[in-house]
Amino acid sequence: MRDYIVAVVGATGLVGNTILKVLEERSFPIKRLLPLASERSAGKFVHFQGERIPVKVLTKNSFRGVDFAFFAAGGSVSKAFVPYAVKSGAMVIDNSSEFRMDPEVPLIVPEVNGEDVLFEKGIIANPNCSTIQCMSALYCIQEVAGLKRIVYSSYQSCSGSGMKGLRDLDEGRYEFYPYPIRGNILPHIDAFLDNGYTKEEMKMINETKKILHDDDLKITATTARVPVRFSHCVSINVETEKDFDLEKIRQKMDDFPELVLWDEPARNKYPLPLQVEGRDEVYVGRIRRDESLEHGLNLWTVADNIRKGAATNAVEIGLECIKRGVVE
Ligand SMILES: NC(=O)c1ccc[n+]([C@@H]2O[C@H](COP(=O)([O-])OP(=O)(O)OC[C@H]3O[C@@H](n4cnc5c(N)ncnc54)[C@H](OP(=O)(O)O)[C@@H]3O)[C@@H](O)[C@H]2O)c1
Repeated sequence: MRDYIVAVVGATGLVGNTILKVLEERSFPIKRLLPLASERSAGKFVHFQGERIPVKVLTKNSFRGVDFAFFAAGGSVSKAFVPYAVKSGAMVIDNSSEFRMDPEVPLIVPEVNGEDVLFEKGIIANPNCSTIQCMSALYCIQEVAGLKRIVYSSYQSCSGSGMKGLRDLDEGRYEFYPYPIRGNILPHIDAFLDNGYTKEEMKMINETKKILHDDDLKITATTARVPVRFSHCVSINVETEKDFDLEKIRQKMDDFPELVLWDEPARNKYPLPLQVEGRDEVYVGRIRRDESLEHGLNLWTVADNIRKGAATNAVEIGLECIKRGVVE
């Protein structure tokens, strides 16, 4: 295995900066790190492996010789600059929603559909943060009992909106959200569409079908912003194809990589955002039969949206590419 030249676009942002941390924690084989951001960051530095590395301004010529380009600077930056990175021969791992539903672009949660990296054509998309944290548990249920219908209800932290969301929460103002977020809950994430859903809700619906390879799955979603700094929670109601042994599903989840069961109601043990913040795994609890359905269950998942919901999953996609020989 060789060492790689790795660019991080948006290295000064919440996700980009965490990508740097995770690259270091996972000992990603790096020869040279290239942190990129906008002109606003000219003269700034990032810290990586004990060194201070100057941030460079992103241009279309930034990607010469780059092996991996992690994009975490929003959809418009990805739209404008990903083609230059691909043209330079870099493997792009994109955190925005720009390419996720492109049939030519794999959308990956490595523990669930890691083999899809083999279909890459230069770009791999990192799914939406709320989608990522639901995939492992749903995959376990799919394997045991088949999936028929999913109802998502999310409770998403303000860091999901980047620095702007955290500023509204921390400073008690509302420059980014349309209402104060402190002491409030907003049933509104991203723009409203003609069908009455928000874009975030449609992302959860469409991305789930793509990752679980099931276009016929029936899914609905309501996403809400809550006054929490880090970690998203998603309540998932699932109707299955057939009956199941709940213990078998629980065991499958317990054995699944990077999925942690915290499910002991008698001891008040269930995952919470404050406990999960800073961790890389997805946590699941409150697993119980849905007594209103013939075959169904409820569960509660929590993950750090900046880590597993973004940076950690992106770095794991990169490692999957190396493991499967997609990037040599
Ligand atoms: N927050 C989450 O939970 C989450 C989860 C999954 C995916 N994502 C996605 O990850 C991306 C970044 O989100 P974030 O939360 O990290 O946002 P953020 O904290 O606001 O950071 C944005 C980053 O993008 C850079 N940037 C903005 N415009 C640029 C331009 N024209 N050229 C070069 N760099 C530019 C910024 O650089 P400057 O500092 O120079 O402005 C900054 O480094 C978005 O696509 C978002 O949808 C976020």
